[in-house]
Amino acid sequence: MSPRSVLFVCLGNICRSPVAEGVFRHALQQRFGAASAAWRVDSAGTSDYHAGQAPDPRSQASALRHGVDISGQRSRAFSTADFEEFDHILVMDSSNHVNVCRLTDNPSHLAKVQLMLDVSFPGENKPVPDPYYGGDHGFEHVYQLLAQASEDWLEQWT
Ligand code: 4NP
Repeated sequence: MSPRSVLFVCLGNICRSPVAEGVFRHALQQRFGAASAAWRVDSAGTSDYHAGQAPDPRSQASALRHGVDISGQRSRAFSTADFEEFDHILVMDSSNHVNVCRLTDNPSHLAKVQLMLDVSFPGENKPVPDPYYGGDHGFEHVYQLLAQASEDWLEQWT
């Protein structure tokens, strides 16, 4: 079963990537039970605007409606050390992609960075839309996209 480490990245690490982290952990647990503990799963923001904060209450609520509790997660900023720490760095949109990739010129680091939805919609450069300024519907849509992509990545990796 490989890879064993994945980092999800968005701008603030309070709306999209915390849900990605939670839903991916949940999918791992469903598939592998106790063996899922061998995986390292984390999330980060390209900014430190919200460092130390819990996920947006709307993200927490939409995840919890599907049985995924992300209330214990705290926002942190992406660090260049993450390029070494993780096998895969999955970003939510092209702006996250630019912001992460500008932090390294190492080809092996750059090869780890992919759009989260590339697995579900290959070649479409489809973003996970930022729901921050929208309504609750946006958060449910984000949840659905992330849940499907998590299953698709696990199919590909395991
Ligand atoms: P996220 O959403 O990148 O999915 O966590 C955002 C959260 C906060 C801000 C922007 C996007 N902000 O500008 O504060």
